[in-house]
Amino acid sequence: MTASRSISITINGTRYQREAEPRMTLGDFLRERCGLTGTHLACEHGVCGACTVLLDGDAVRSCLMFAVQADGAEVTTLEGLSPDGGPMSPVQQGFMECHGLQCGFCTPGFVVSAHAFLRDRPDPTESEIREELSGNLCRCTGYQGIVRAVQRAIEIQREREPGATLEQNHTAGSGA
Ligand code: FES
Ligand code: FES
Repeated sequence: MTASRSISITINGTRYQREAEPRMTLGDFLRERCGLTGTHLACEHGVCGACTVLLDGDAVRSCLMFAVQADGAEVTTLEGLSPDGGPMSPVQQGFMECHGLQCGFCTPGFVVSAHAFLRDRPDPTESEIREELSGNLCRCTGYQGIVRAVQRAIEIQREREPGATLEQNHTAGSGA
């Protein structure tokens, strides 16, 4: 059995120092070592996007990375988009209002992916939303509610803080 090593990752603004075997994925590290079960693992080979997190601000598939590769990095998970006691993020609110989920298994990946997308492109067209989220798979919704949820998130963001971007509105506790 390969020896584990101690790694340190700042997750949602909190530093986690934990043991990880070299072959442990970042997704398993988040769930099993840090108790952050908001990140879901489905296909575990990079196809479905359910495991998406932000690594130093970029959306990545945590099933395709080894935890040791993230040593020293900053990670934002679903939990970091809406820290305890805070309001839901615009994307989370949009998913709730527009029925963007059914079983919810794919939802963390969609929410994190959409958050990063709207941070970088605050006013996308519907086709741009569909193209951006085409890397995330959902077996339940038919995607209509998900697209509406992202469009609603744009409206919510504008209602909350006209002129602000998602990045400005959700840096507290996000670690990104
Ligand atoms: S669980 Fe990572 S892409 Fe499917
Ligand atoms: S809501 Fe069930 S897989 Fe997307």
